[in-house]
Amino acid sequence: MEVIIVKSSDEVADLASRRIKNLVEKKPKAILGLATGNTPLTLYAQLIEYHRQSLVNFSQITTFNLDEYVGLDPQHRASYCHFMKENLFGPLGLDPGQCFIPNGMANDIAAECEAYEKKIHQKGPLDLQLLGIGREGHIGFNEPGSSLGSRTRLKTLTETTRQDNASQFGSPQDVPLHVITMGVQTIMEASEILLMATGLGKAQAVASMVEGPLSASVPASVLQFHPKTRVIVDDEAASKLSRKAYYREVYAKKPPWQSADFV
Ligand code: GLP
Repeated sequence: MEVIIVKSSDEVADLASRRIKNLVEKKPKAILGLATGNTPLTLYAQLIEYHRQSLVNFSQITTFNLDEYVGLDPQHRASYCHFMKENLFGPLGLDPGQCFIPNGMANDIAAECEAYEKKIHQKGPLDLQLLGIGREGHIGFNEPGSSLGSRTRLKTLTETTRQDNASQFGSPQDVPLHVITMGVQTIMEASEILLMATGLGKAQAVASMVEGPLSASVPASVLQFHPKTRVIVDDEAASKLSRKAYYREVYAKKPPWQSADFV
């Protein structure tokens, strides 16, 4: 794992956006795995800015989102379908045919999960999977206890996640209990992982993911096995890492040929 510690959440977004820009410049038909939540918002705004300035052409990318609520109308402002249209797909002018999100309104959820997994395999592998992290170490909606070998499937949210995601709904009780999420194994099959975390609230999850034991209790810790994972965090989210000084030194003294993909 490469751990990059920067001062602010804006710098986290800036670095992540430069990585995606670089990838799409080199591979215009890139397959991107995308995340929702507050963390990637500034990054998405930056990608939209690149598009407005015609610095990158995103028109040929294909995207797969990590997750969606079950039983929530896609028009609902808290649905991830709505979130992505508002914050990225619309402004980038992407066609719905190139942006995949699990259908939480499907009559047969198991069949929907299987079809989503198949679609990823058909089009994939994902060139890059963007991730945030939950306070308890979830990735996508793979809550603590998720099988590290899991595929896209139905999950039940924990109380903590429902509290964390309540702002768009009114109260934690209004947050759907069930979701569809890419599995841990599905995520692990991406060629590259870019995980962003900001703020003190994520510090424990980040430390457990990077330096804790590999455990289904912290699903993000499985990324220790992924050959190309970058974790970009601000000072606050990095505050509980014990090898901070070392990570900073590795990044600061990186040989130039290794930093090429942020250029
Ligand atoms: C949500 C999403 C995750 C996201 C995480 C953190 O529940 N399912 O994909 O990474 O929780 O969200 P935030 O960035 O708002 O802290």
